[in-house]
Amino acid sequence: MSVRDIFETMDYGPAPEADDVAIAWLERHGRRFGHFVGGRFTKPASTFATFHPGDGSELAQVSQGTDKDVAKAVGAAREALPGWQALGGHGRARYLYALARHVQKHARLMAVLESLDNGKPIRETRDIDVPLVARHFYHHAGWAQLLEQEFPGYQAVGVCGQVIPWNFPLLMLAWKVAPALAAGNTMVLKPAEFTPLSALAFAELAAEVGLPPGVLNVVTGDGRTGAALVEHDGLDKVAFTGSTEVGRIIRGATAGRGVKLSLELGGKSPFIVFDDADLDSAVEGVVDAIWFNQGQVCCAGSRLLVQESVAAKVEHKLRERMETLREGPALDKGIDIGAIIAPVQLEKIERLVAQGKAEGAQCYQPSWAVPQQGWYYPPTLFTNVASAATIAQEEIFGPVIVSMTFRTPAEAVELANDSRYGLAASVWTENVNLALDVAPKLKAGVVWANCTNVFDAASGFGGYRESGFGREGGREGMYEYLEPAWAKGLPTYDADDLAPPAGAEALAEGVSAWDEDGASTPFPAIDRTPKLYVGGKQKRPDGNYVYPVLGEGGTRVGDAPLGNRKDVRDAVEAAVKGSAWTKATAHGRAQVLYYLAENLSLRAPEFEERIRAMTGVTKRQAAREVETSVRRLFTYAAYADKYDGQVHPTPYRNVTLAMNEPWDVMAIVCPDEAPLLAFVSLLAPALAMGNRVVAVPSARWPLAATDLYQVLDTSDVPAGAVNIVTGVRDELAAVLAKHDAVQAMWYVGSADGGAMVERESVGNLKATWVNFGKKRDWFDPAQGEGREYLRRATRVKNIWVPYGE
Ligand code: NAI
Repeated sequence: MSVRDIFETMDYGPAPEADDVAIAWLERHGRRFGHFVGGRFTKPASTFATFHPGDGSELAQVSQGTDKDVAKAVGAAREALPGWQALGGHGRARYLYALARHVQKHARLMAVLESLDNGKPIRETRDIDVPLVARHFYHHAGWAQLLEQEFPGYQAVGVCGQVIPWNFPLLMLAWKVAPALAAGNTMVLKPAEFTPLSALAFAELAAEVGLPPGVLNVVTGDGRTGAALVEHDGLDKVAFTGSTEVGRIIRGATAGRGVKLSLELGGKSPFIVFDDADLDSAVEGVVDAIWFNQGQVCCAGSRLLVQESVAAKVEHKLRERMETLREGPALDKGIDIGAIIAPVQLEKIERLVAQGKAEGAQCYQPSWAVPQQGWYYPPTLFTNVASAATIAQEEIFGPVIVSMTFRTPAEAVELANDSRYGLAASVWTENVNLALDVAPKLKAGVVWANCTNVFDAASGFGGYRESGFGREGGREGMYEYLEPAWAKGLPTYDADDLAPPAGAEALAEGVSAWDEDGASTPFPAIDRTPKLYVGGKQKRPDGNYVYPVLGEGGTRVGDAPLGNRKDVRDAVEAAVKGSAWTKATAHGRAQVLYYLAENLSLRAPEFEERIRAMTGVTKRQAAREVETSVRRLFTYAAYADKYDGQVHPTPYRNVTLAMNEPWDVMAIVCPDEAPLLAFVSLLAPALAMGNRVVAVPSARWPLAATDLYQVLDTSDVPAGAVNIVTGVRDELAAVLAKHDAVQAMWYVGSADGGAMVERESVGNLKATWVNFGKKRDWFDPAQGEGREYLRRATRVKNIWVPYGE
């Protein structure tokens, strides 16, 4: 072809990036790799191949990690932990800085190797993945430096097990390794079986910068190796990115082990185009949303929601644009779309596309053909899709977008939230009011206004709902690798401390508190028999049973209603409906909490007497409990409008608003001791942040909580904000843990109860905070109140808004 011809056709010629540097690196290792443990590569054993998806050729053999390999790596990480922590923030900052520099120095090796192993275009690895990796290490060098000042009272969690997927192998490594290192943890990382090479190359870089042996260990292998790692009992923390299915398995495997967990899982993110959007920009946005990385992106904008009036126009523009996309060899610099990771993934895409067609959706693919050799799939657009269709609900994880239309913003929000996932959302409109009206209504951890798939180390990333919990990046991400110092070394509850209330056993005989006419009968009337508190009203328990509340020496202080699973469900329903509380202003919530404090204080003598009669503490101690409860309400009234978010300085033309949002519906299960103070200490922070709560108070001494009904009634607490179900703690906790409308659950009780809560939470993957059987001192403000409670009562949503020039 002559230059003249090229001027005529304006066709792209090939522009290949040389692969020599990566090939030389592979050859240097004889194309065979062991694991990286204790600062050295082990001898390769039980190897399997890793391939280049662009042509299916074998790149190298890597080792399948066994239980023994995992144990050695965890041992090395444990051994390295004290030394790494002793370095202090500044010492670690120097290593992180060196790692960032070293990644930059070896940027070409990393980019080419990544494109070879993953099949993604070099344009992306060179311009996005690798620069973001370096940025992550720079940013976290900063957190290491500032750790003591910026996270006072927090310390590293310990030894971390980290399992990552194949879609952004090196970037996911950086997201896991950088914050863990900065906070003072050591780790064992397992890369995905399809893409182990960049992690091994990174381990080598780490050795070159002199990272102390054992701080970072890499064990390769498939899901079995991952399972061996997350099941290893030497871990303090597990961090996982991958499919929701495996996330569930890991939630189950870590339950009850005292392991801190973060999960970053799948998504089916909406891409919303309003009729006033700049449609050409929006169409380019779609290209980035779903054809970046072949659509193998957890936050890919895979559901296109277009306002009806512009739907035909958008579809037309999009189809035209699809014709001009270029798909082919990863190392060609002019390529937009590379190959799919593996035949198994290609088959999954083909199966779902076939299903979409069978279900009646219209399928559009460009006229050009994909390369024959290698594992390619063309960009695909489905129109005429129903929101309930399989292809609109399941994560396809390929270059396939489904489109739907809406008429009003409210309908757009409803469609957007019609998903079990909630990782990200993208909103396109020229009207900033509309964008900022819609953003808080979207159930997603990240909202991009007039942009999409932008990431930065300074901004947290992570999901709502079944997209997982925990954040990576930013200040919020650091907390995933830290824990409050007070949480370490707490005493363990005795079995007696939390035994089920003795009186509950009487239920076997069926003690009914209310006869047909509603009069309280079977026990001698020592006190009024309280009911449950549901939706702002007192409500009889479904089973009509009560149990005696025993005081010192076994005397009956009163009766408490025995709630059952139906009562719990009613309470959750009331909480779901109680959204007025979440919509109230922070100032408004503060006023209500102050009012609660005021009304509690007015009735202090009554509460003191109740506490004394139930628990047998001295009058003085009872007075102290009420007084501390009043103060605690003051604390959270004060915090209601002060636990504010941040504006993250991300290096783009925008502001990134990190908003602390409530979970909406939370479940809180309280211990027995300090029955008023523990209840208030757990309830108040959740309320202050705008959550509606279903609370299970002390099972043994519930009357301090039931006495609060009148206080709640007189303090302007709206219906459904607080719901109280008394009864046998772990029975009620099990129902709450399984309930899909509960988004977060705190449990303070026995180790077994906590394990049960973690296990049962897998259904909707609610975030849990359990005490692993450890006893807090509720009177100590360091343990009983503070920002950790507020942090646990919220989740961060990052909203990216274009701003400035
Ligand atoms: P996966 O979730 O099985 O793999 C992710 C990582 O977990 C890999 O390192 C794997 O070896 C490891 N793993 C697998 N089973 C494990 C276990 N029982 N315990 C511990 N670790 C385990 O994802 P896979 O099979 O590679 O892809 C399947 C689907 O998952 C994809 O089609 C896609 O829909 C989704 N996916 C989503 C990702 C995301 O970031 N949201 C990333 C990768 C996959």
